[in-house]
Amino acid sequence: MIENCCCKTYSISDVKQYKEHMLQKEIKPTIDKREILCAETVPGPNAFVVFGASGDLVGRKLLVSIFQLFARDLLDDRFYLLGCGRKKFSDLDFRKKAEQSIREKSDLISPNNLDAFLSKLYYVDGDYNDSNFYERIKARLAELDKIHKVYEGLVHYLSVPPFLYPTIVENLAPAGLACTKKLHSKQHIKLVIEKPFGKDLPSAVELNNKIHRCFNESQIYRIDHYLGKETVQNILMFRFANTMFEPVWNRNYIDHIQITIAESSGVDHRASYYDKSGALRDMFQNHMLQMLALVAMESPISFEGDHIRDEKVKLLRSIRAFDVNKLDELCVRGQYIYSQIKGSKVNGYLEESGVRANSKTETFIAAKMFIDNWRWKGVPFYLRTGKRMAVKETEIAITFKKVPYSMFSSVGLDELPANVLVLRIQPEEGISLSFQAKRPGAKTCMSTLTMNFSYNELFETEPPEAYQRLLLDCMAGDQTLFTRQDAIETAWRLLSPIMQAWENDEYALYEYPAGAESFPAADNLIESDGRKWRQLLKA
Ligand code: BG6
Repeated sequence: MIENCCCKTYSISDVKQYKEHMLQKEIKPTIDKREILCAETVPGPNAFVVFGASGDLVGRKLLVSIFQLFARDLLDDRFYLLGCGRKKFSDLDFRKKAEQSIREKSDLISPNNLDAFLSKLYYVDGDYNDSNFYERIKARLAELDKIHKVYEGLVHYLSVPPFLYPTIVENLAPAGLACTKKLHSKQHIKLVIEKPFGKDLPSAVELNNKIHRCFNESQIYRIDHYLGKETVQNILMFRFANTMFEPVWNRNYIDHIQITIAESSGVDHRASYYDKSGALRDMFQNHMLQMLALVAMESPISFEGDHIRDEKVKLLRSIRAFDVNKLDELCVRGQYIYSQIKGSKVNGYLEESGVRANSKTETFIAAKMFIDNWRWKGVPFYLRTGKRMAVKETEIAITFKKVPYSMFSSVGLDELPANVLVLRIQPEEGISLSFQAKRPGAKTCMSTLTMNFSYNELFETEPPEAYQRLLLDCMAGDQTLFTRQDAIETAWRLLSPIMQAWENDEYALYEYPAGAESFPAADNLIESDGRKWRQLLKA
């Protein structure tokens, strides 16, 4: 069954791990008219420890996502969650806080399921630097494991500021909460870490080294929430479950590829984090490069986690290093300034509270990249991402080469538009393909048409929130959608020349009005090659 499965299965790197996986998980295949085969990953029993449990993200996203999984019956009955944080909360306080967030955000509440879920939540407070805190967590886990009969899975989820990662990890180990053999013999312990994972190559290597002293790579789950998005996962199915695209997915047929993540929001309440980060670190190093890897990588030998992750890293390694002497031609940065959007005043980046005076942090980046391998040699990849742009929109657009010769020139049409395939990641998830077709009427009457597939229309449902997929996979021990150490380090290595160059003031930081779709320097990056950015929808 597993071998035949064309939906989600496992990351299995050796026989021992395979057996562990089989102990922990069960696959439930279902087939209906539309699905060829549908397998869902069901995790075994897990104790889920959340560090930073009194913080914002946990309330807004994590607890709501876990509740959704619970309400959809995707968690084992024995699952429980232990929140850990600095604030002094009782179990009851924590449950009340959770209830409030869930009531605000969840659409799956039934008369019984919320209370049943809340009864699985517990809390311990303490100081992250105090080794006693971890001893108390261990004692509480031992007590709760007995109540809930959890003897196998333990997940530590770090939802704390990144400077606390090493502190927590280094304290988990002496308390026996990191190394599997110190706990129950069957226990599999996992560590989940949010981005940012380092701020450059040296800091990422240092963090990886510290974590590896306590956890091995098969225990580490580095989250890039873009990989949990349905439409990002669909890139693999689209490319490798169909024969018709792969033969033309190369330099012989593709003219160029554009990847866009445009956001209409600004930095909101995250200015103090963002100001130290900027678009390159916040979006480009992770989400953008992961999407590039998925769209450009070779076919993995199987749907196993490490086979897919191997191909992604291979692709990232094939990206041509940025030439610092030509950086202006390859990479442009911008910062939004005050403007009016639909009649309302919108602050410039420098006016946002929490941003340093005269900050040079970029809120926009556009880059031209090349992949030096047989498939892609000479094909430009244009990537852009920015805050406070005209719309919120994420897409990958593949523009094919124009027909080599127009037989219609005899009737006055010398050049035909290129076919464009668009993988729309958000907000209106779907795929579209443009092509030329005859219009009814006059003998020679042609138009460019767009064939459009919309997820919402076809499946009549909104795609689930990315976090749900990722949480489920990490509890089930499937690392496919998590970023491996080598991918993180390769991405930082690639961007190092840009970060170093931008630190000195010789490189321009362009201004763009909040709500703009682009600006001249960013346009020039692509127009100097005779191409254009795709217009953002609804702009
Ligand atoms: C996060 C960034 O990783 O992704 C944010 O830190 C950004 O700055 C967010 O707004 C965008 O995610 P999404 O899912 O809304 O496209």
